[in-house]
Amino acid sequence: MTASIISGKKVSDEIRGSISDEVKELVSKNVVPGLAVVLVGEDAASQVYVRNKEKACHDLGFYSEVHRLPAETSEQQLLALVDTLNQQDTIDGILVQLPLPSHINEKSVINAISVHKDVDGFHPVNVGNLVIGDDSLLPCTPAGVIELIKRAGVELSGKHAVVIGRSNIVGKPVSLLLQRENATVTMCHSRTSNMAELARQADVLVVAIGRANFIDSSYVKPGAVVIDVGMNRLENGKLAGDVDFESVKEVSGPITPVPGGVGPMTITMLMKNTLTAAKRNHG
Ligand code: GUN
Repeated sequence: MTASIISGKKVSDEIRGSISDEVKELVSKNVVPGLAVVLVGEDAASQVYVRNKEKACHDLGFYSEVHRLPAETSEQQLLALVDTLNQQDTIDGILVQLPLPSHINEKSVINAISVHKDVDGFHPVNVGNLVIGDDSLLPCTPAGVIELIKRAGVELSGKHAVVIGRSNIVGKPVSLLLQRENATVTMCHSRTSNMAELARQADVLVVAIGRANFIDSSYVKPGAVVIDVGMNRLENGKLAGDVDFESVKEVSGPITPVPGGVGPMTITMLMKNTLTAAKRNHG
């Protein structure tokens, strides 16, 4: 049997619709959510991501600033810009596009962003709040994964979720969010010795390992929900997930495709975070 496909595009469009409605209401009270994106250097993938964020701001009625700085920008110059944006009333969210050139310390830059404007959810205070379970700005891709699962009508409470990958950006935070939804969570990573055996126990399998088509049907329990966070560029230029979609969809339950699954959710959750920050900052 072939699984149902979870469309990140469709869910993302739905959420964008409600964000757009909320923005209209805020604008009528003279509050315009504002996002500043900072790009240092010429990284090709980053340029595309930044353009997409700029477009999302435009489409949803946000105020947007994009600061494109040369690769030689010093850490001090970047920190000075972050400081200016921290103090700027028209800006509710600040995103410094990663990776940064190697002469700039990413941690110092992330730590310099105001906790209240950290729409990436990367600041240690927001990470700490996520661990404790307090209100915080949630990292965008993990928050998008949870939204996709919930809006596919999947109940997480009491389910066994297996997360493959332990990165700070996806694996760790998504595990915490799944636990917050009352799932029982197992984390696997590159040193896990019995990964397929553990993965086959999952009711919900979230994969974020950065290896194209790595997870085949031998890792999947029949009917399990499969969320593929992978975005791997193949030699032929095509985008591939971490999950071998063609093999896995024959056994799994609802599954996300790549592209068109988790990808469209990330920017949408960034916009949602910026809206949340605007409501807090002007509330
Ligand atoms: N580069 C790739 N993904 C991301 C992201 O989610 N946030 C930032 N700031 N940079 C990125």
